[in-house]
This record gives sequence, structure tokens and C-alpha cells, in this order.
Amino acid sequence: MTTAFSRFLNHCQSKSPSVPAHSPPFTNCAAPAQLIALDEAVEYSLQLGGKRIRPTLCYAAALSLGMHDEDSVDHLASALELLHTYSLIHDDLPAMDDDDLRRGKPSLHKAYDEATAILVGDGLQARAFELLADAPGLSAEQRISMVKVLANAAGTAGMVGGQFIDIQATDSDMTLEQLQAMHSLKTGALIRAALALGGIAAGASAAQLAALDEYGTHIGLAFQVVDDILDVEGDTATLGKTQGKDGAANKPTYVKLMGLEGAKAEARRLLDDALDALAVFGDSADLLRDLARYIVERDR
Ligand code: IPE
Ligand code: IPE
Ligand code: MG
Ligand code: MG
Ligand code: MG
Repeated sequence: MTTAFSRFLNHCQSKSPSVPAHSPPFTNCAAPAQLIALDEAVEYSLQLGGKRIRPTLCYAAALSLGMHDEDSVDHLASALELLHTYSLIHDDLPAMDDDDLRRGKPSLHKAYDEATAILVGDGLQARAFELLADAPGLSAEQRISMVKVLANAAGTAGMVGGQFIDIQATDSDMTLEQLQAMHSLKTGALIRAALALGGIAAGASAAQLAALDEYGTHIGLAFQVVDDILDVEGDTATLGKTQGKDGAANKPTYVKLMGLEGAKAEARRLLDDALDALAVFGDSADLLRDLARYIVERDR
């Protein structure tokens, strides 16, 4: 990892998404005391420990295209992290992956209860869209485009659709094509949206957005391939989530279909394709290049 990239990643990771649960809906009146517990659960879910990859992709895309208004991008980055955190909270629920550990701590439904975990997820998702609508320094057209992009990526044509396929496919076999389609939806969609948001904020042309999207398609898929590899090769302490869950639950994964070495080769191939897609940007996209390498070489 280069020093410049390491500094950039630390900077992006040090920004915590802001979301008091009762703000702004209750900004004009005292928050009901009963909501203090909800606030605490929201804060718990946003604890440090996440890699903040989606915010980092968003900052990197905006910077690569010459956008330096960090206040605007902060809103988009927070929206992405909130939406992602909601997806993890629901992913861990007993009805989904039934995972007790997340980001090195008990999953939200373990630390609190299932109803709280469902509601915190719902609240984070709603708040994400509010943050986009409120993003400073951007035109109404830009903010509406972003709401549409994120809604599409989060919904049944994106993350939720991919999660549905994942749950349905547990204990069954998939072709490589089906697996790729599932991963592209459940993980790739939000990663592509992170890049699109950064690009839209920077006033990207259609051609630049298309190049970012191609990069995102490859690196988004690579991200989940590596997540599947780490489930086999990683260790629980480093990952902050239970290693070996995919195998135990008989989940469809790249490792199951291609073997460990096949999955690693696939991740490297996807990295090359992602780097190729950045050629049009020249040196200005070096942060995105370093980020792609980090995504494929990470150990958690
Ligand atoms: C985990 O995402 C879920 C997947 C989409 C593979 P991350 O690996 O980005 O989780 P955090 O945010 O760093 O905890
Ligand atoms: C989850 O994929 C993807 C989401 C949309 C949250 P996984 O189920 O593989 O994520 P982890 O391994 O639990 O983080
Ligand atoms: Mg899952
Ligand atoms: Mg899971
Ligand atoms: Mg996983």
C-alpha cells in the first residue's frame, strides 16, 4: 500500500457517519425519552471496525474527477455507510445468515434483540436517503439522480434482490453465471452506486460515469469473491465476523464452485479488468487503482 493511499484510507475511515436516530425528524421538539434506547442501538451498529469501503470509493471517485468539496461528499459517504450497515444488520438476523458476531462485537440482534435490529436497519435505510436529499453544494437534479441511483442499488433490482437469491440458493447448486449474477446484485450494486454518487457529485460526463460503472462492476464482484475466500482462509479475530459460516451453512460461494485457487485467480482477473476500465482517467484515478488493489489484497 502506498503512503498516499494509506493516508487517504485512514482519513476516509476516521469520518464516522452521523445519525442521531431522532434527528432531524424530531429536531423541533424534544425527542421522546423512549427513543434514547433506539439511539444507543443505532450508535452501536455504527461502531468503528467497518472498513468503510463504500464511502472510500465515493470519495475516491469524486476526487479522481476533480471534486474537492468534502462537505458534499461527506453526506453521500454517510448515506452509503448507513445503507450498507443496515444491510449487514439484516444479513445477520436469524432468518438470514444467523450470525452472532459483526465488526468484532455481538451482532445487533444479540446485543439488543431482533425487533430492535430490524427497526434500526429500517431507520438507517430511511436516514440514508434523507442525507442524500440534504447534501449541501449540489443541485436538485444531482440530488434526485443520487436518490434514484441508491434506491435502485438498494432495492429488489439490487442488494435486496441479491440477498433474496442468496437465501433461496442456500443448500443448492448454482452455475458460475448464476453465482456471478447473485454477487453482482447483493454486493456489486451498492459498490457501483458508491462510485456513481461520487461521479454525479463531481459532474461526471456520461462517458466518465460509464467508465466508473465498468470499474465498479469488476471490483464489486471481486469484493464479494474475496469475502468468500476470507470466509475460508481468514480468522475470526481479524475478520471481526465468524469465519467458516458459508461452508457450515452450505452457501453458494466462489470457493465452493471454483475451489480456493480458482477463486483467487478469478479475483486477480477481476482486478485487472477493473484497472483496465480506469485507463480513460489517466493518473487522476490512482486512488481508485490503489483502492482496487486493497480490495483484492485485504485480509478482513
Ligand atoms: C461485508 O461488507 C458484506 C459484504 C458485502 C461482503 P464489508 O466487508 O464491507 O463489511 P465492513 O463494513 O467492513 O464491516
Ligand atoms: C452479505 O454477504 C452481503 C450483503 C448485502 C450484506 P455475506 O453474507 O457474505 O456478508 P458477511 O460475510 O456476512 O459479511
Ligand atoms: Mg449473507
Ligand atoms: Mg452474512
Ligand atoms: Mg460473507
